[in-house]
Amino acid sequence: MCGIVGYIGFKEGLQVQEVILSGLEKLEYRGYDSAGICIYNDGIQIFKDKGRVAHLRTLVDNSLNSKLGIGHTRWATHGIPSQSNSHPHQSKTGRFTIVHNGVIENEMELREKYLEDYPFISDTDTEVIAALIEYFEENGEDVELAIRHVMGIIKGSYALGIVDSRTPDVFYAAKNKSPLLVGLGDGFNMIGSDAMSIIKYTNQFIELHDEEFIVLKSDSVSIYSILGAKIERTPYTETLDASDTEKGIYPYYMLKEIDEQPYAIRRIVAKYFTDTDYNINPNIVEVLSNTDRIYIVAAGTSMNAGFVGKQLFESIAKIPTEVHIASEFVYNTPLISKKPLFIFLSQSGETADSRAVLVKIKKLGYKSLTITNVKGSTLSREADYTLLLHAGVEIAVASTKAYTSQIAVMAILAANEANMDVSFLKTQLALVANIIETITDNKLIYKELADKYLVKRNCFYIGRHVDYYVAIEAALKLKEISYIQTEGFAAGELKHGTIALIEQGTPVIAIISQENINLNTRSNIKEVKSRGANVIVISLKSLSSATDQVVIDDVDPILAPLVTIVPTQLLAYYAALGRGLDIDKPRNLAKSVTVE
Ligand code: F6R
Repeated sequence: MCGIVGYIGFKEGLQVQEVILSGLEKLEYRGYDSAGICIYNDGIQIFKDKGRVAHLRTLVDNSLNSKLGIGHTRWATHGIPSQSNSHPHQSKTGRFTIVHNGVIENEMELREKYLEDYPFISDTDTEVIAALIEYFEENGEDVELAIRHVMGIIKGSYALGIVDSRTPDVFYAAKNKSPLLVGLGDGFNMIGSDAMSIIKYTNQFIELHDEEFIVLKSDSVSIYSILGAKIERTPYTETLDASDTEKGIYPYYMLKEIDEQPYAIRRIVAKYFTDTDYNINPNIVEVLSNTDRIYIVAAGTSMNAGFVGKQLFESIAKIPTEVHIASEFVYNTPLISKKPLFIFLSQSGETADSRAVLVKIKKLGYKSLTITNVKGSTLSREADYTLLLHAGVEIAVASTKAYTSQIAVMAILAANEANMDVSFLKTQLALVANIIETITDNKLIYKELADKYLVKRNCFYIGRHVDYYVAIEAALKLKEISYIQTEGFAAGELKHGTIALIEQGTPVIAIISQENINLNTRSNIKEVKSRGANVIVISLKSLSSATDQVVIDDVDPILAPLVTIVPTQLLAYYAALGRGLDIDKPRNLAKSVTVE
């Protein structure tokens, strides 16, 4: 969370303020409580405030002519969103100015040890870093050593951009756990929390690793270890297309990404099959064949996809599978089987909670596979194997196409393990893509349903079997963007307590995609209806009844979550739209959660 960007150098037609501001706009998905930039123009100039980058734009002096700038968009962890807590932060003399993404866990200890009586201005942990760099510099260390010294004593995560007002022909960066990339230009160099923030200016990138320190000038980039040893690293060409990150004709990224799901599924088919066979890294296939238990570790929507993955691995591949909340697993680790395979599901590949588990299980010597949308992301780099989602950039905070893509990739993996007929699965996935298209072509139904029913303070999604797993994800989607308090419930469990919350007009949305639970779920629907609920039923055609509001064409039941989730994404979208909310940037959230 939080995004940083930095630029040094000169390119005809590029104005530093604009480079930094446009980079921050791309990074806003990482946090949007406040934003700020530092521009060097015969001295340090700082513009910052709480609020969005659009607000920051109105504060920035456009007449400044500069060759150096750093910027930050914030997701508050230490201190409320406010002008004083916004980045950049400075050391007390104003010499060092820094932007920071991450969390310093031992800031209190460091304050006590080195910074007693220091006149802190903000409540942030970041200000401690600026203060410490100045402290060590004042105690005789040169600036580079002072920064590396600070890197050595802080515990936690950081991606840093650091400007020394005395040397405006250089700026510094450092990375540990939080993501950071270098972009190499002709006459300029950049840093950014992700490729999207840089790609408009260059596609030549250098990957950075943890505990690395970087010195950037307009014509050079030098990377050092925390101990000062020079590191050589070959740049790579980033294939991300700048236009992938645009909304185009869509009012919101979320709607664009919902609509992109059929293409994502078709791309997955193209990547993971040859004409007649599966096309999966044989090493992954072998590891999967030799495992006695899969442990899926993830957070949020990715974890919800993991529940469907469990269903797929157990019913198709016959491999026992557990799903774990990443943030719980680290501190309350279950008993592990003899030959486990850990699967990390993560759209961003950067989720700190999942990464903490990966670090832990690697130390224990267990094998790991990351399924992610982001090539070269931390979870991808650090796991033994990676399978990419190929879903295209996902920008809306509410994840949609990553969820369906994760399920599709796991279905293929499980089917390969079971030697499932290739043409059958390909046909079914093609059918899935077509059905999603039919759903997204008829959006008005969902707008009408949302406007009519999703007007209460709370709501329930219910389902049994795999529909229960979809209900959990559907509930997350609705609550996170519309702020309607929504729970996803096993339909049969409602009567054991939660049914007490059903009152006149409470919306209950039931999902029915499996034959063996159709009648049971319908009984549960009657139970809530007779207590006043307004029920919407989403069913597969062969299981539908005449009064069901949303009837979806049939697909093999094992793949049903890929289609039943889509109406719920649209319901969430229209419920939020009806309430006039900022759909792509719901309150208190950020897309990439890089703090534990
Ligand atoms: C909700 C959502 C989050 C993420 C979660 C994990 O719509 O997007 O719940 O799924 O923060 O993120 P990734 O998948 O990047 O690890």
